[in-house]
Amino acid sequence: MRIDVVTLFPEMVDIPLSDSIVGRARKEGRLKLGFANPRDFSEDRRGTVDDKPYGGGTGMVMMAEPVYKALKRVKKKGSHVIVLTPKGGKLDQKTALELATHKHLVLICGHYEGIDERINRFADLELSIGDYVLTGGEPAAVVIIDAVTRLLPGVLKKEDATINETFAEGLLEAPHYTRPGVWRRMKVPEVLLSGNHKLISEWRFSAAKDLTAKRRPDLIRKAKLEEV
Ligand code: ADE
Repeated sequence: MRIDVVTLFPEMVDIPLSDSIVGRARKEGRLKLGFANPRDFSEDRRGTVDDKPYGGGTGMVMMAEPVYKALKRVKKKGSHVIVLTPKGGKLDQKTALELATHKHLVLICGHYEGIDERINRFADLELSIGDYVLTGGEPAAVVIIDAVTRLLPGVLKKEDATINETFAEGLLEAPHYTRPGVWRRMKVPEVLLSGNHKLISEWRFSAAKDLTAKRRPDLIRKAKLEEV
């Protein structure tokens, strides 16, 4: 997959995605990450990319034209264009799975008070990573790229690593343990040491349901609604 990010601050996205699993996916060519900076398309010598909001108010608004030109530089036929904004639909695992099916994503990061509304005409989707306001779309781009990259074929070592995990079945995942069997007088649940795969799988499903009911009853309700 290829992902291009339209951003005034490419390093805010490039550096956090240079290590660990996503870093490796980039080195292996499974994820190709590119950038386009609206500043390079500014129409004056000072590199201006923002202006005061029409109608007054605090803060500055990113101008449509430099963002549009940066988008045009990277957009191809079939690109899926996403504007990152706290006003967008909320990212969840289902959305990440859908995004992972595209060949090319373009993520547009706003900064300051956001981007001139008219840029949305060129987007397929407006996306938020949660109900809080960031200083810009860049940390949101990092989150989305991470969530999508780990779903790409060959990125996670174990083929099924994404199958049983949290949210895959609409539930939080059962707890994990590793050696030692007793740590600071706390024991690993006996069933996990039994070697009985059927019992272990039943225990995990039941633990996942209990945890979800306790912490995220909204997910249980949603799973039930999707069943009918
Ligand atoms: N830009 C600022 N806040 C954001 C959020 N919560 N999600 C996506 N983009 C943003």
